[in-house]
Order: sequence, then structure tokens, then C-alpha cells
Amino acid sequence: MLIRLVYASTATKPVNREVLDAILKTARLRNEVRDLTGLLVFDHQYFLQVIEGHRSAVSLLLSKLFADSRHSELTVLEFDEISQRMFADWSMSFIPAATANRPLLLRHGVSSHFDPYSFTKAGALAFLSAMRGDAAISS
Ligand SMILES: Cc1cc2nc3c(=O)[nH]c(=O)nc-3n(C[C@H](O)[C@H](O)[C@H](O)COP(=O)(O)O)c2cc1C
Repeated sequence: MLIRLVYASTATKPVNREVLDAILKTARLRNEVRDLTGLLVFDHQYFLQVIEGHRSAVSLLLSKLFADSRHSELTVLEFDEISQRMFADWSMSFIPAATANRPLLLRHGVSSHFDPYSFTKAGALAFLSAMRGDAAISS
């Protein structure tokens, strides 16, 4: 059974390129082995991540994410069964939230800055789907 997890979280310390690269390196290596795919969006404060894969693998990763001290206030926006992946081509793509222009944020969120906690489930999915086109460039 395939599951899609979408969550928002807050960085606990300033995240520079080095920290981000370390997160992405581990994520890509491990996700490949566990057949997990997805996208990470970050803007210096907030993370928004979508992770797709088999239920056991997604659940195990979620428990690790809850325990990861590099971020906190992890809030699950979606944990649902899906029939197909949105990000099948990426073990973990990355997009800086700055890539999202103001009209895109306004269309899918409730504020003009990147605040993933303000997203509804439908809003988060529409936003991630709109960002998907850019994932090919930033992965
Ligand atoms: C924002 C963020 C996103 C992460 N995404 C992933 C991911 O997609 N896959 C993954 O294996 N680990 C990811 N991690 C790292 C996990 O929290 C955890 O450190 C990693 O899976 C190693 O856990 P382990 O050493 O206990 O096996 C992420 C961490 C952060 C802070």
C-alpha cells in the first residue's frame, strides 16, 4: 500500500547550505534503498516535505523525523493512501521556497510568505504540485 505523507516543521537552528546538503544526502541515499520519493521545500525557517512510499517505510521515517532535533513542531498535514506517486522520479528533490512567487503562495496558502502551517491539506498538495515543475531544475 502506497502512502503520501506531507508535513510542516520548523528548523531549530539556522540551516546553512552545509546542513541542508547533509540532510539531503542522507535522505537521498536512504530513500533510494527504501523506495521512498518526494520533495523538500525550505525557506530558512520552515520545512514542507512530501514523502511517498510503502506504509511501513513512510511510518518508520516519520518516527525518525519526529526524533530529529534539527527541526521541531512537526505537524502532519496529510498521511493518506494514494494510488500513484507525484514525485516518482526523485528520491528527494529540493526547492528553496523563494522559488515560489507571491501569486503562487497567495493562490495556495493564506499569506504571502512561505508558512506551511497555514496550508490546508488540499492547499499543500496544490502548492507542491505547482512546485513540481521546478523540481527537475533544483533536484
Ligand atoms: C527536514 C528533514 C528532512 C529529512 N528527510 C529525510 C528523508 O527524506 N529520508 C531520510 O531517510 N531521512 C530524512 N531526514 C533525516 C532523518 O530525520 C534521520 O536523521 C535519518 O533518517 C537517519 O536516521 P537513523 O540514523 O536513525 O537511521 C530528514 C531530516 C530533516 C531534518
